[in-house]
Amino acid sequence: MTDFPRVRLRRLRRTEALRALVRENQVNVSDLIYPMFIVEGKKIKEEITSMPGIFRHSPDQLPLEIEEIAGLKIPAVLLFGIPENKDETGSSAYHPDGVIQQAIRVIKKSVPELIVITDVCLCEYTSHGHCGVITNGEIDNDKTLPLLSETALSHVESGADIIAPSDMMDGRVKTIREVLDGKGFQHIPILSYAAKYVSAFYGPFREAAGSTPQSGDRRAYQMDPPNVREALREVEQDIAEGADIVMVKPALAYLDVIRQVRDTFNHPLAAYNVSGEYSMIKAAAQRGWIDEKQAILETLTAIKRAGADIILTYHAREFARWLRNE
Ligand code: PBG
Repeated sequence: MTDFPRVRLRRLRRTEALRALVRENQVNVSDLIYPMFIVEGKKIKEEITSMPGIFRHSPDQLPLEIEEIAGLKIPAVLLFGIPENKDETGSSAYHPDGVIQQAIRVIKKSVPELIVITDVCLCEYTSHGHCGVITNGEIDNDKTLPLLSETALSHVESGADIIAPSDMMDGRVKTIREVLDGKGFQHIPILSYAAKYVSAFYGPFREAAGSTPQSGDRRAYQMDPPNVREALREVEQDIAEGADIVMVKPALAYLDVIRQVRDTFNHPLAAYNVSGEYSMIKAAAQRGWIDEKQAILETLTAIKRAGADIILTYHAREFARWLRNE
């Protein structure tokens, strides 16, 4: 007898205490990474128009921010740089006194235990806005690799704890691993943006970071949205090259990819709840069209339920504040 009225699934939904007892997935602050935009200069704190509540900070403004973030028990930040100067080869990405290198030193001085992850890519630093150097109109994979590993090395030398390459060049995990190991940084993990898709949901980020390609798009290096077997190959490849944590990005339109990566591999899995996903909730909430807090909780929970261990999200701070005040 497994039938109604003996079986009543509603019995365990009757009170919040019962629901909490049988809840299968829960988002913890300790799962979250908070992305931050660091702009070169002094005394700058400017809100990003398309991302309400998210700011560009100059390095000198960071101690105050970082203390609050660490106080909320958010374990890690991911840094993106907005340099003063851009050129063909993105040289301010690997300048020893570049904006990210400065920011890392400031953060490590104010809250040493906060995990500092750096995004390694050239698109914010190149005049053309692509993630690699250009030869004869094409993004040159192999010429880009040494620049990425030089960038990664300079971040680690400045104190970064984890390196996160997001460029989608083939072989970058291997090249970065070799360079770090050669310089005595065998202990520094690589979080690779393994399955990163071409996406309209990066729109607000590109405004925030000023990294829109001047011509063309990123289809020749980021993944084609219809593909999922290819995502498994990308992840397999990055793991073979030495990635410690793998990522699927974006998150919401790719929950099936997160699930398949989770079921196929045993590595820690991160998912990036990207800028467009953040901005859509903010825009709808500002108009009173959805309940902001519930929408955010539901979104983050869905990403966990799909199988992510770690979530990179611009909601990290507000989420942690709500939990603290509960
Ligand atoms: C850099 C990079 C991008 C994002 C993270 N790293 C932009 C892009 O690939 O165009 C997007 C993050 C977001 O939308 O929140 N390559």
